[in-house]
Amino acid sequence: MRRLFLSIGLFLVVLNSIASIQTVKTKAKNCEHRADSVVALMTLDEKIGQMVLLTSGADQTGPRMAVNDLEEIKAGRCGNIFNAHTVAYTRKLQEIAIEQTRLGIPLLFGFDVIHGHKTIFPISLGEAASWDMEAIEKSARIAATEAAASGLQWVFAPMVDIARDPRWGRISEGAGEDPFLGCRVAEARVHGFQDNDLSDPSTVLACVKHYAAYGAPQAGRDYSTVDMSERTLREVYLPPYKAAVDAGALSIMTSFNELDGVPSSGNPFLLKDILRKEWGFKGFVVTDYTSINEMVPHGIVANEKEAAGLAVNAGVEMDMQGSVYLKYLKQLISEGKVSEATINKAVRNILKIKFMLGLFDDPYRYCDKNREKQVVFSEENRKAAYDVACKSMVLLKNDKQVLPLAPGKSLAVIGPLADSTEDLLGSWHAAGTTEGVSSLLDNLKKSSGGKVSYAKGCDFSGNDTSGFAEALKIAEQADVVVLVLGEPCGWTGEAASRTSIDLPEIQTKLLQEIRKTNKPVVMVLMNGRPLALERETILVDAILETWYAGTSGGKAIADVLTGMYNPSGKLPVTFPRNLGQVPIFYSMKNTGRPYEKEGLEQKYRSRYIDSPNEPLFPFGFGMSYTRFGYSNLKLSSETLSKEGKLTIYVDLTNSGNYDGAEVVQLYVQDLVGSVTRPLKELKGFQKVFLKKGETRKVEFTLTEKELRFYRRDMSFGSEPGDFKVYVGGDSNATNIKGFRLKQ
Ligand code: BGC
Repeated sequence: MRRLFLSIGLFLVVLNSIASIQTVKTKAKNCEHRADSVVALMTLDEKIGQMVLLTSGADQTGPRMAVNDLEEIKAGRCGNIFNAHTVAYTRKLQEIAIEQTRLGIPLLFGFDVIHGHKTIFPISLGEAASWDMEAIEKSARIAATEAAASGLQWVFAPMVDIARDPRWGRISEGAGEDPFLGCRVAEARVHGFQDNDLSDPSTVLACVKHYAAYGAPQAGRDYSTVDMSERTLREVYLPPYKAAVDAGALSIMTSFNELDGVPSSGNPFLLKDILRKEWGFKGFVVTDYTSINEMVPHGIVANEKEAAGLAVNAGVEMDMQGSVYLKYLKQLISEGKVSEATINKAVRNILKIKFMLGLFDDPYRYCDKNREKQVVFSEENRKAAYDVACKSMVLLKNDKQVLPLAPGKSLAVIGPLADSTEDLLGSWHAAGTTEGVSSLLDNLKKSSGGKVSYAKGCDFSGNDTSGFAEALKIAEQADVVVLVLGEPCGWTGEAASRTSIDLPEIQTKLLQEIRKTNKPVVMVLMNGRPLALERETILVDAILETWYAGTSGGKAIADVLTGMYNPSGKLPVTFPRNLGQVPIFYSMKNTGRPYEKEGLEQKYRSRYIDSPNEPLFPFGFGMSYTRFGYSNLKLSSETLSKEGKLTIYVDLTNSGNYDGAEVVQLYVQDLVGSVTRPLKELKGFQKVFLKKGETRKVEFTLTEKELRFYRRDMSFGSEPGDFKVYVGGDSNATNIKGFRLKQ
């Protein structure tokens, strides 16, 4: 009888939701009420089950725990699943939840859709190098449509961790070193995933990660300690998470690291004070993989039961894969260590999202086999991936205009990455496979118009030089050598930190040998982190940074090399000369003893005795086959009032021989503050396409708002005084003007 009553209750709730979903966009408030009415029907065990996220057997992204997802789902002990995809498989699991549990609450399916689902786009660092927010949003939109068509409603992206240490393998998953660029990319990706309407079955719930400051582990070692001032945290590391929340992201993932001695999954300062109170976050918080359990080895709790209590009271609503909520929450409640009200609130936040996604309306709305067939890996999507891949490439050097390759030239294509398809996909390529992916070599054979010969030359690493002879032979016979070097894709991503950011010695040796042929050498790089390329840069004529360019990357690289596409990417992260310079980023401070190269006695200056201070390639840098010139930098006024706005004008001219796009960058320096300020901060950018010979006036506006920072007393605001603006094509921009912010 009770069962019947509950079923009728739930049925009414569901009917109720159908009505609302059929009207306009699902309103969060309505969904909250509906969630509350379901919470009222639930037993404590069922509530706890909704706070559990377990991996299915289909994929593995961390240490496997001893759970059987099917049994847990049946028992109502697991309300959410990750690492399951395809319509057939997710439907099977969803049927268990709907048909075999008492209340039939639908499962939420999540997956790591980091840079595409089946159609793989360039790695996120590469996408950020496009500085093209429309393209990035489109890439996320396509990833969302493919994920949603594969039975998923939730993606563990965007990863918005600012990263300034290239040793850290996960630098490849984010948008680089800068908070301003990081915020724009975060917003674009959230919009792409959620499209402002979770009730549309082609959208997915975004999950911002890894909150917070996961990108700053000591010595670049993954999962290591993070320790920084609150000012740096708030000014540099937090803004992209906040931008993603402001853009509407309704889930957020805690990070593995500790911050100021407290691991993120037990950190009420991060989860309550900042996320909920300051930012007004309305979604739910999920942990990273077993990160509640990991608070035991962190040494903040003595056992997993205490860990579960610490996490739930700190504001963590869903336990990814740790099973500690499953094991201990009930007991903690009975002992009075956790209140049932905390549980109710958490469950309501989770169910609210399930309502918003329309899962209570139709739990199988993401399980349409025809849609899956039509949408996933469609030709249209692969074309879009090609487009973004072209935009992501950064030309770092081009002496004597060796690029683009002149038609008909014979090419010697050499190197361990030249004929790879797997590596094009980069780390963490979700459901992506090499099926339908063609290598750079294949594409050059098709498009170069001249003879193409190939030799691998060497492996990624090791010291086997037996392939050198063949490589040298074909180099000698060719007009140009295209040398494809870098890292295999497994060298970046999670748990892939390196203590060296050099190219493996064997690859540099191969390059040194090839150089002896005196043929023009174009170095094509595939890698997921800044590399220290000082030696190599001297030896080659041209360098094209291609990151891991994705499903359609082989063609995109070939088309950039042959001039079908004029590169326009700019580095989203500084490329140091050597590891000793790390951390190095463009927005460093001046110090009390800046090294100025000339004038003063230089010994006791902030410098190295064995390396220049400057990086090899600065943040924002990237060349084109054409030339861009900047002139007539003007400000609308020499002063800016608190309510006013300042317009900055500059003329951009394409004075070269190709049509092309330039990313015009605006940097600001606050000369004197109550705390010291960075030498430069990015405050605006525009990607401008110009035909050859064309000149265009580019305009930026600045208001007092953009000049705010965390002042001496940690209040957020501006301070009157003198500022400089810098405009140009990279962070060394030399077009400079000054203005004064008035009281
Ligand atoms: C990673 C997350 C990922 C999760 C689920 C973790 O190891 O840090 O980024 O979303 O696994 O696969």
